[in-house]
Amino acid sequence: MGESLLNLPLKLFETVADTVGTPVYVYSVQAIRDQWRMLEAALADVPHRVHFSVKANSNLAVLNVLRDLGAGVDIVSGAELSRAQLAGFMGAEIVFSGVGKTAAELRRAAEAHVSLINVESDVEFAALAAVVSQYGLTANVGIRVNPNVTTDTHPYTQTGHSGLKFGVPLDQVEELALRMHHTPGVRLTGIGMHLGSQISDPSRYEEGIEQLLTLVRLLQGAGVSSLRSLDIGGGFAVSYGIQDGLDLTALSQIVKRIDRETGLETLLEPGRYLTANAGFLLTRVLYRKSSGGRSFVIIDAGMNDFIRPSYYQAHHEIAVVTSGEISATDRAGPVDVVGPICETSDFQALNRSMPPVGPNALLAICGAGAYGFSMSSTYNSRPRAAEVLIDGDRFAIIRERERVDHLWMGENLEPEWQTMEGRAEDERREEIA
Ligand code: LLP
Repeated sequence: MGESLLNLPLKLFETVADTVGTPVYVYSVQAIRDQWRMLEAALADVPHRVHFSVKANSNLAVLNVLRDLGAGVDIVSGAELSRAQLAGFMGAEIVFSGVGKTAAELRRAAEAHVSLINVESDVEFAALAAVVSQYGLTANVGIRVNPNVTTDTHPYTQTGHSGLKFGVPLDQVEELALRMHHTPGVRLTGIGMHLGSQISDPSRYEEGIEQLLTLVRLLQGAGVSSLRSLDIGGGFAVSYGIQDGLDLTALSQIVKRIDRETGLETLLEPGRYLTANAGFLLTRVLYRKSSGGRSFVIIDAGMNDFIRPSYYQAHHEIAVVTSGEISATDRAGPVDVVGPICETSDFQALNRSMPPVGPNALLAICGAGAYGFSMSSTYNSRPRAAEVLIDGDRFAIIRERERVDHLWMGENLEPEWQTMEGRAEDERREEIA
């Protein structure tokens, strides 16, 4: 882990929880820097650029920390483009991925001169070509290939084998590439893949890169001389306390082939690797309860705040910051740590052995810095949690807790009805009268 459980800044966690309330996400700047440096050290011999996958943690202040370190970003929507721009990223530092980019998003990306638009289908390319020609723009494009590589991660986070919605199938790449090559305003500069998430076996990358290198040779042989980069995507597994993370030294050995055999620059799009273990979700115990032979710890964070345990059956360590008011019946032993949401799947851990805790205990759910807040929702009309950055013994609020009245912003208590002709009902009534 980025910080071992023994090293957690427990006093600072207590201060943050007392000041900002719970549930609250806390991210350690130092832990993000450490991850960044480890990745950069592993890739020291490889010409490369790292584009942080904004979907993992899109808070502006977190993006700013990564920008300071020298990262670029990988975005998947127009709003992520706006976030990246607000955080100070230049177009040249942005890669735009995603399977369903709209014409409006493609236009904005081209206008922002993003360094690469990764196209995922021939029809998406047709939309991009139309936008480029209509508005007199230019765009550097890449092809996200589906290299048909199977990974043994959770099925919901596999994206690299055929039969999934992602990427251009291997047998369609050449035709699409040649079409791009002959389209005015478009320059085919990249070829890439994204195999999935939480991949711990480096040989999966080797398999995918092998396929991409074969394609590069094929395309160069067919006269495509504009290729500049090979994007290996993200997906680098981290240890969430029980499993192994991806061995970066092994990865860099594999990645070296790209420069050696083709001279192309390697692009990487890690999300989780950079922020997951830098983040914690602080939550307080509300109640203890037993039922049907099981012992429950009911906390104030729900699956709306952190969905990974219930959605992917993901394991996240839970550290006890303070133990609260323990009663004689709250013995140590396996417990289900559950939230206040009206769903049986609202849990953070099942059958987990942990030290005794009672009401008011403060817990830190670990590994919550990626796909934590960014996947949170307001289900059960729960305002989304606050977010805090910590650095040494200081902390800063980087997102206020969502306000209750923001939950119904944009809702109409007494809506204005419209007819199919698009006229307001009132107008029609006036006409009839
Ligand atoms: N590049 C592309 C095109 C992606 O779709 C993703 C993640 C990444 C990079 C970054 O992947 P990472 O390095 O973070 O594994 N919500 C899930 C993960 C789904 C990620 C979707 N795409 C989770 O909580 O595990």
